[in-house]
Amino acid sequence: MDQASPATAPALKVAILGFGTVGSAVARILADQPASSPLKLSHVFNRNVERKRVAWVADDVRWSSDAEQVLASDADIVVELVGGIDPAHDWIARALTAGKSVVTANKKLIAKHGPELTALARKHGGAISFGASVAGGVPVIDALQEGLAGDQLYKVCGILNGTCNYILTKIENEGVSFDSALEDAKRAGFAEADPTDDVDGYDARAKLVILSRIGLKGIVQPEQIPCMSIRSIGAVDFTYSHELGCTIRQISRAERRDGHIYASVQPALVPIDSPMAHITGSLNLVLSSGKYGGQTAFSGHGAGGHSTAVAVVSDLLDIARGRFGDAARPQVAADVLPVTGNFASEYYLRFTVRDRPGIVAAIANALATHSINIDALLQKPGFNKDALPFVVTLEHCPAEQLEAAMRDIRKLDFLVHEPLTMPILTKEL
Ligand SMILES: NC(=O)c1ccc[n+]([C@@H]2O[C@H](COP(=O)([O-])OP(=O)(O)OC[C@H]3O[C@@H](n4cnc5c(N)ncnc54)[C@H](OP(=O)(O)O)[C@@H]3O)[C@@H](O)[C@H]2O)c1
Repeated sequence: MDQASPATAPALKVAILGFGTVGSAVARILADQPASSPLKLSHVFNRNVERKRVAWVADDVRWSSDAEQVLASDADIVVELVGGIDPAHDWIARALTAGKSVVTANKKLIAKHGPELTALARKHGGAISFGASVAGGVPVIDALQEGLAGDQLYKVCGILNGTCNYILTKIENEGVSFDSALEDAKRAGFAEADPTDDVDGYDARAKLVILSRIGLKGIVQPEQIPCMSIRSIGAVDFTYSHELGCTIRQISRAERRDGHIYASVQPALVPIDSPMAHITGSLNLVLSSGKYGGQTAFSGHGAGGHSTAVAVVSDLLDIARGRFGDAARPQVAADVLPVTGNFASEYYLRFTVRDRPGIVAAIANALATHSINIDALLQKPGFNKDALPFVVTLEHCPAEQLEAAMRDIRKLDFLVHEPLTMPILTKEL
C-alpha cells in the first residue's frame, strides 16, 4: 500500500486521447496548474499528431499517434476526448481493464455503455467520470450524484442542446426561417456541418439518458426515448406562441413515476415567464425535482472548449483527491425500467392548409372521435390562402390519444405540410 501522504504523493500522470477543441483546452488548463498540482500531463494522442504540436505543452510530454503505446504506458488516467462510439469504447474499456481511471466528455458513449463501463471500473479498482458529458461546464452530474444524494429525485428536465436553443432564439428574435437560422448557427460555430444529432434531438437524448441514470436511478437506452426534431418550427409558431403567453424551446424531460420512466425530447411551448424561456442562445438549464428538497436549477454554458475542459479537469482533480467518481461510490441501485413518451399535457397544433370550407369541422371531428377537446383556435390574417397556417390548442390529453387522432388528420386532403404538434408545458415544469 502506498504510504505517501497527499502532500508528497507523486502527481498522477494524465494521457489525453484527442487533441481537438476540448482536448487542447484541457491541456492548456493542465499546463497552467501550479507545480504542486496532483496532476501532470504525460501523453497527448491524436491521429497525425505532428500537426497538433504546440509550444506551450511541457517538453517532457510524449506526443503519439499510436493508441496502443499510450494505453500500455504508465499514465494513471486516460482522458478520452476523441468522441463517437468506436474506437473510443474499446480504448476506454482497455484503459479500465488495465486498472487506469478514465475521464470522458463523450455523452454518446456514456449514454450507450455507461453502466457497463462503470462496472468495469469497479471491477479493476479504477474510476470513470463523465461530468462534462451533460451541460458542458455546468456541474450538474456531480450535483445530482453528490449535492442532492440525500433527496429522492423524481424528475429532471431542461434545455440540454445549445445548438437548438441558439437556432430557436434566432428564429424568435429575428423572424427568420429554420434554414436561415441553421446557416447562421454554422457560421457562428454553434452548429456542425451535419447538424442532425443536434436539431433532431439525439444529442439531448443521450444527455437525458445520463441524467435519468444519475438523477432518477433509472437505466434507459437512448432508442427508447421519443425524439422530435425542431426542423419544422417557423417564425409563425413564435407569433402564435406569444399570443398564448409562451415561447418555444427544445425540452428534454424524464420523470420516474409508477415504476416507469416517462421521457421525451421535443420542442414545446413554455410560459414566457418560466426559467426555460429565459435560457437564450447557447446556454443550458437543468431543473431537478426531489421528493423532499423541491426544485433545484443549474444553468450555464453547455458547450465550448474552455467550459467543457473545466468540467474534465474537475473530474481529474476529484480522482486525484481520491473521490474516484462513479466507481468508488457506494453502489446506488439503478433499475432497468419500462420507458414511455406518453406524457399528458395541453397541446399546440399548427396546420398549414389550402383554404376551403369545412377544414376546421374536419379537424374538430377527428379530434372528437378520439375524445380530445379543443381549447382555442387562432388564425392571423394576411397569409396566402394556398398555404394558410392556423393553430388549434387542445385541452389536457395523453400523447397516445393525440397521436391516434393525428393519424386520421394526416389523411385529410387539404394539408400542405405535415401538421406540427407540440405540448404546452404550463404546469409541468
Ligand atoms: N466541443 C464541445 O463544446 C463539447 C462539449 C461537451 C462535450 N463534448 C464532447 O467532447 C468530445 C470531444 O469533442 P471536441 O469538440 O473536442 O471534438 P474535436 O474538436 O473534433 O476533437 C476530437 C479530436 O480527436 C481526434 N480524433 C477523432 N477521431 C480520432 C481517431 N479515430 N483517432 C485519433 N484521433 C482522433 C480529432 O483529430 P482530427 O483533428 O484529425 O479530426 C480531434 O483532434 C466529444 O465526445 C464531444 O461530444 C464537446
